[in-house]
Amino acid sequence: MGIGEGLEKDGTSLSQIPTYVTAVPNGTEKGLYMAVDLGGTNFRVCSIQLNGDTTFNLTFSKVAIPKELMVAKTAQELFAFLAKQIELFLQTHHEEHFEKHVRRRLTQSASDGFKDEHVFRLGFTFSFPVQQIGINKGNLIRWTKGFDIPDAIGKDVCALLQDEIDKLHLPVKVAALVNDTVGTLMARSYSSPGKTGAVLGAIFGTGTNGAYVEKLANVKKPLSGEYDKSTGEMVINTEWGSFDNQLNVLPNTTWDIALDKQSVNPGIQMYEKRVSGMFLGEILRLVIIDLLKNKDVSFFRDDNSSSNDWKSTTNIAPASGIYAQWGLDTSIMSVAAADNTPELSTLRQSLESDLHVYSPAIDDAQAFKAISAAIVRRSARLSAVAIAAIVLQTGKLTDPESAGEPIDIGVDGSLVEHYPYFRDMIYEALRIVDGIGEEGAKRIRIGIAKDGSGVGAALIALVAAGMEKSKS
Ligand code: BG6
Ligand code: GLC
Repeated sequence: MGIGEGLEKDGTSLSQIPTYVTAVPNGTEKGLYMAVDLGGTNFRVCSIQLNGDTTFNLTFSKVAIPKELMVAKTAQELFAFLAKQIELFLQTHHEEHFEKHVRRRLTQSASDGFKDEHVFRLGFTFSFPVQQIGINKGNLIRWTKGFDIPDAIGKDVCALLQDEIDKLHLPVKVAALVNDTVGTLMARSYSSPGKTGAVLGAIFGTGTNGAYVEKLANVKKPLSGEYDKSTGEMVINTEWGSFDNQLNVLPNTTWDIALDKQSVNPGIQMYEKRVSGMFLGEILRLVIIDLLKNKDVSFFRDDNSSSNDWKSTTNIAPASGIYAQWGLDTSIMSVAAADNTPELSTLRQSLESDLHVYSPAIDDAQAFKAISAAIVRRSARLSAVAIAAIVLQTGKLTDPESAGEPIDIGVDGSLVEHYPYFRDMIYEALRIVDGIGEEGAKRIRIGIAKDGSGVGAALIALVAAGMEKSKS
């Protein structure tokens, strides 16, 4: 179940996927690249100018993935939508390039005026577990975070995207396949290069996962793709969302059990279901429903009602998201945490406008805030466990060569970015982990890698373009 097992064989609960990325950047990389990003709250298309001096300029557009496409019948429906967004982005943000080069087939030869240099290299951030078989090839292992398109399982997601791009004759080549955690690790190393670069890139957003730099000698399972062996290291995508699917050590409340049972993927991503943003709101909702059903508890109660139907005894409108699966958006938990006024006026306003509670009372809002805080605190403490495990695995805390050096970690995602004090709660827990302690926690530097995956994907597309050149 641990870190080592996944490095030895496939099919373990912690997948430990080799990424074929063998070095992290140092901030001097340059060039114009494209990136697309599927798997967070939004689908994003970006172009990134890397300036070579640790800075970059990013242009992006984002769109929410229509719910029906998340469970589409065929993979083609989803990927056609993604290609269409790339076309719209080029039309809007690279109009000149679009006019000049779009609608020329990629196969058109140089004599027709179409050159390879006119083709944008695109890094594809695809934030789902993928068996990577090369820098721009990888077969989908399973969907997570509410996506469920069985037709795509086992297929090469780069080829699926490239096919749809080609149907639109766009001058874009999918050059690199990147998990968002790997992108985050790359971006953090580019923007804040230290002596050794970042050791971990982690996402605490809709989902949660981490990618870290592992010694090649520890990767015992066979590596089939091509890669540069000179650094002696490789980035590993842990897919820690599936840590302890067997529930040997994870806490398991009645609400965790209910959430899992009603999810599209019962029994998997059990760690993620206790940690990440997509699930925290649903856990809170399930707790609230139990309290509302309990006649002995006064919680959002309509004191004038004597109905036998529990819903009619609440002061929450029937149309409220409280009554529907996934109906409570996790963002209200950040509102609850941020409101420290005695009357909880901001939170009560949100309860009224977002969850249709009629005139929420202060004590009900206080209870809401306390339950919400407990759920997120558990999430942050579990997050610290994963971070600590990776830090210990790198051996940096005890390695005399790294003595005194900060241990740099890049993080991204709506939870760590928007939930107040999430990082502080992680540090609080790190300090009491065996092998880390006060001193170890002081050396761990957790920093936001904003727009991580866009920049990271561009950096990997750059490496891939270099590999293409060295082959030709
Ligand atoms: C973004 C990254 O900033 O964070 C994405 O660019 C990543 O690649 C996302 O998936 C995670 O956050 P969320 O909250 O959108 O899932
Ligand atoms: C899910 C995905 C993983 C991704 C994470 C964060 O856990 O399986 O690939 O990195 O979400 O977006």
